[in-house]
Amino acid sequence: MDERVISAQASADERQTESALRPTTLAEYIGQAQAKAQLGIFIAAAKGRAETLDHVLVQGPPGLGKTTLAYVIAREMNTNIRVTSGPALERPADMASILTGLGAGDVLFIDEIHRLPQAAEEVLYPAMEDKAIDLVIGKGVGARTHRLHLEPMTVIGATTRPGLISAPLRDRFGINLRLDFYPPEELAQVIERSARILNVPLDPQAVPLLATRSRGTPRIANRILRRLRDVAQVEGDGQVTVDLAERGLRLIGIDQGGLDEIDRRYLRVLASKFRGGPAGVETLAAALSEETETVEDVVEPYLMQRGLIERTPRGRQLTPAGRLEAGMEQSTGGLFGP
Ligand SMILES: Nc1ncnc2c1ncn2[C@@H]1O[C@H](COP(=O)(O)OP(=O)(O)O)[C@@H](O)[C@H]1O
Ligand SMILES: [Mg+2]
Repeated sequence: MDERVISAQASADERQTESALRPTTLAEYIGQAQAKAQLGIFIAAAKGRAETLDHVLVQGPPGLGKTTLAYVIAREMNTNIRVTSGPALERPADMASILTGLGAGDVLFIDEIHRLPQAAEEVLYPAMEDKAIDLVIGKGVGARTHRLHLEPMTVIGATTRPGLISAPLRDRFGINLRLDFYPPEELAQVIERSARILNVPLDPQAVPLLATRSRGTPRIANRILRRLRDVAQVEGDGQVTVDLAERGLRLIGIDQGGLDEIDRRYLRVLASKFRGGPAGVETLAAALSEETETVEDVVEPYLMQRGLIERTPRGRQLTPAGRLEAGMEQSTGGLFGP
């Protein structure tokens, strides 16, 4: 089992099951009450006026349902969706060709929109604002711009790093949705739904166990469910019982608190190498041999939500709860010294 259970990205074989498990309507989409309430109103209003939906920015850590929500929106608006991502739009011409290829009312979903190159972003501005793109024809002194009109459409941008989105781009989104980590009750619903779809015999008593160990993230909940299904198949009679779930969770390295290996390592390193902090994120990431982006996008948001670490102007530090979790409180100070 080398694929990390909390890994931010969906693996290739996972993408297959993911699409099978994706809710397709707003009613099926579990949790995120605030985002759903807003969307429900804006979608109904746009449809009532026979207009396109305003551009939507969806932000939140990986695996919380941003891509799913984009598909749900297109479905609820009865439109086509065209899917691309920031890094895929290398040249402005790529952006221009996608935009001109959209039909009336279509949704353009741009994943990882914070990684959109500046030049492509500039093509997007007039498209979002004036339904037009400005083509430059010719070169040098003879060059002139020609304005090309586009069909009305909706841009949905998804990002794990809203802070990296430029102000002019952010301003062009009329609807801003923030997805938060799911409480265990909602994850329980996600797990029960997925078990039904995947035909996993799951003991209802085991559900809370899975729900509290999924880092507040549906993608991880589904991943754990599939892993436990494997364990049940090989080591048991196929049933995911409480006992089997406990053994399985130990096997895949998820502890009681729902922290996984990299979470624990983060807390341990912050405790032992930096005396609980503050420490800069780059220094920390280097000490963990992880990408700064992974630490910032995946590890820290959850540890922060759990109240184990906090961001200060001087860097990251353990909260009292985090010090306890890292085992610092029992120590007399000498144990973790440099
Ligand atoms: N609100 C939800 N209700 C049920 N399942 C969800 C929900 N949000 C996400 N999921 C599940 O989690 C998986 C990952 O969601 P995804 O939209 O790909 O996350 P993101 O794009 O934010 O990384 C989906 O395949 C889906 O099965
Ligand atoms: Mg996604």
